[in-house]
Amino acid sequence: MVDAHDPQEPGSSRVVVVQLRGVCKSFNVGTAIETEVLHGIDLTLLQGEFCAVMGPSGSGKSTLLNIVGLLDRPTSGTLQVCGAETTALDDRSLTRLRGHSIGFVFQYHHLLTAFTALENVMIPMLAAGLATQEMRTRAEQLIDSVGLSAWQDRLAGNMSGGQQQRVAVARALAMTPALLLADEPTGNLDTKSADAVFELLRRFNREHGTTVLFVTHNGALASRCDKTIQVVDGRITG
Ligand SMILES: Nc1ncnc2c1ncn2[C@@H]1O[C@H](COP(=O)(O)OP(=O)(O)OP(=O)(O)O)[C@@H](O)[C@H]1O
Ligand SMILES: [Mg+2]
Repeated sequence: MVDAHDPQEPGSSRVVVVQLRGVCKSFNVGTAIETEVLHGIDLTLLQGEFCAVMGPSGSGKSTLLNIVGLLDRPTSGTLQVCGAETTALDDRSLTRLRGHSIGFVFQYHHLLTAFTALENVMIPMLAAGLATQEMRTRAEQLIDSVGLSAWQDRLAGNMSGGQQQRVAVARALAMTPALLLADEPTGNLDTKSADAVFELLRRFNREHGTTVLFVTHNGALASRCDKTIQVVDGRITG
């Protein structure tokens, strides 16, 4: 991803990982009437930046993350991710870019509960076609790095909420993504587990230069990020 041809922010030596220009998003809910949820979002994230996203419920935070994560397309505006201008890409190219460059952690872990912690971490590697032994070694290292070595063969469904979310973080980092999108990853956790998950994200951000967009309603955690943006009524207000 770090490439001499990648665009750079003027006046900065750091690579631009995400750039939105005038992004709008409308939804059509079963009628001819479209409701615009995001109204002309401009946002630039640099390599290694850890950015909190705050704002009231329904303001458009998850919609914004889904667009940055290439899970949904803007209605208008442009979106550049990891040096690629995404607006012109077809679905297959978007899927490939997402698989190689973007990791996701959601409020609900979305682990496969009938599979072990280790197997859950191996799934993105399987999708990327890695060899079995390499997958296993990498998954063991990731599980170790989130402090769960002793639990690697435990079924995900038999782990605590905090442990499951740590497995979800390890899974999100399986392909060492340039960009990590975390939508209220600590929203369901007690204070201690929330802190542990936040620290994991922070550590990976520092060690790998991963850019992180972190949605939270927790002002104390947001204050530990590099910067915070506020989304209010589909606009970035600060
Ligand atoms: N697929 C969809 N179809 C129609 N409307 C949608 C869709 N997704 C989101 N919306 C609407 O867009 C608005 C923003 O929703 P979004 O989920 O982005 O808010 P949010 O800021 O993440 O809220 P929360 O803090 O509760 O998670 C809401 O009014 C929601 O109803
Ligand atoms: Mg949301």
